Amino acid sequence: MSDLIDELRRRNEEALLGGGEERIAKQHAQGKLTARERVALLLDEGSFAEVGRFVAHRTEDFDMGDKKFKGDGVVTGSGLIDGRPVYVYSQDFTVFGGSLGEAHAAKICKIMELAMKVGVPVIGMNDSGGARIQEGVLSLGGYADIFLRNTLASGVVPQISAVLGPCAGGAVYSPAITDFVFMVDKTSYMFVTGPNVVKTVTHEEVTSEELGGARTHATKSGVAHFTARDDAECLAKVRRLMSYLPLNNMEDPPRAEPGDDPARADPELDRIVPPDPQKPYDVKEIVRRVFDRGEFFEVHEQYARNLVVGFARLDGFVVGVIGNQPSQLAGCLDIDASKKGGRFVRFCDAFNIPLITLEDVPGFLPGTAQEYGGIITNGAKLLFAYCEATVPKLTVITRKAYGGAYDVMASKHIRADLNLAWPMAEIAVMGPKGAVEIIYKREITKARDPQAEQATFEEDYRRRFANPYKAAEYGFIDEVIEPRFTRQRLINALRLMKNKREKLPPKKHGNIPL
Ligand code: HXC
Repeated sequence: MSDLIDELRRRNEEALLGGGEERIAKQHAQGKLTARERVALLLDEGSFAEVGRFVAHRTEDFDMGDKKFKGDGVVTGSGLIDGRPVYVYSQDFTVFGGSLGEAHAAKICKIMELAMKVGVPVIGMNDSGGARIQEGVLSLGGYADIFLRNTLASGVVPQISAVLGPCAGGAVYSPAITDFVFMVDKTSYMFVTGPNVVKTVTHEEVTSEELGGARTHATKSGVAHFTARDDAECLAKVRRLMSYLPLNNMEDPPRAEPGDDPARADPELDRIVPPDPQKPYDVKEIVRRVFDRGEFFEVHEQYARNLVVGFARLDGFVVGVIGNQPSQLAGCLDIDASKKGGRFVRFCDAFNIPLITLEDVPGFLPGTAQEYGGIITNGAKLLFAYCEATVPKLTVITRKAYGGAYDVMASKHIRADLNLAWPMAEIAVMGPKGAVEIIYKREITKARDPQAEQATFEEDYRRRFANPYKAAEYGFIDEVIEPRFTRQRLINALRLMKNKREKLPPKKHGNIPL
């Protein structure tokens, strides 16, 4: 009997060593943790239950029959984050460079299927040389098996990808389908084709870091939602993100101790918006003052900064915050901001997270770059996402709400539940200057002093239209409030909305303008 137990222990020890001590040392020398160290850091201490530790590949080509590593280069199983269950996989770069073959893929698919069955998030830690070359089309099939399951799980359980090493070729499409992508500065990269292929095809000289490093994807492409300095910081951020998410689409997100007074009024809010409507301010200052303890977990912090999105809490309830940022591009909506916002709104709607919109938007960004880039289709993504969302939608217009952007940003017309405005709100088809130049063109040109004439018209327009009261007369604004009471007003509404039920007409799925 003890022989059998010794045998099991021997096998376990071998499995725990992955590709061996030498390769582990190389991994550490690169500033990376091993697959198992990552799992241990991500999960509550001692909570990991492994599945498939002894799985091996079945390939004989390229003398692979002699090269088998227990677990086949990926550690899979379940564990807890703050006491709540998750399924995880962690690719082991010390085994065939974490490359993905048939058995490796099957292990990932197995835990994805389990996660969907029991309604638990999947967190993938990716560190892989891509398709295992020796296994040929079996590897490609393995990836496709994962892509399919990513797609089927989308909107059912949250899926999070931590990219902690190379991620190249079609392999990038699994993280891309998941809800959130984390990357680590200098040690992780993602691209469809690497620098060598780029050089051959386009003659561009570019490093891996420039082409697909964390900074590139966080600032330019928007592929990465979060970046971190190292593996440990990245996994800590994944844990923090999890604290805002429900386990699946049938659950509400976890309520936390608010640690903040729901009736707290903040007189500073009355002074945040500058008297001059052309002057910027920081919407994140409003976020800090309104939400519980000033805490905000920003998503896509470095991408499309003219729109701020992220998670916060109101009286302990998780909410998704979407705010135009007047200090960047005057808070205009452009292509990137529309895509960023649209994806965030859809995530929140899929996972029962109410949406709080802080609106100060002069309109869509004009220009050929935007039109040629498809601001129409892309802006429609945000519009479609907001229209479709059935979670509680609460909107606060802090200043400008002009043109189509007024409609888009959770207006009453697209089923927002509560629309508040601050007294400095300007709700109209366009700003005073643009408006009078069109409707009083003739009068202004003919006037003896066109400038003075224009100023008079602008003043009149501002008084009559650039305020919240016209919209309030029509009932498009439910209440004009003193800014200092924003927090308590939102909390009251959120409590009322707890059991909101709204349904979409039966359909297979909509056709969001992709
Ligand atoms: C099999 C692989 C491998 C792969 C790496 N290894 N990639 N084995 N298939 N795809 C093995 C190496 O042979 C080596 O084994 C070990 O992993 C570490 O690799 P190194 O090259 O020594 O490491 P490093 O110098 O850090 O370079 C890492 C790397 C490089 C940049 C990832 O290995 C690389 O370029 N690999 C190929 C990447 C690639 O083109 N993959 C296919 C992409 S296309 P030993 O035994 O020496 O430790 C793709 C299609 C997916 O993935 C399609 C989905 C639809």
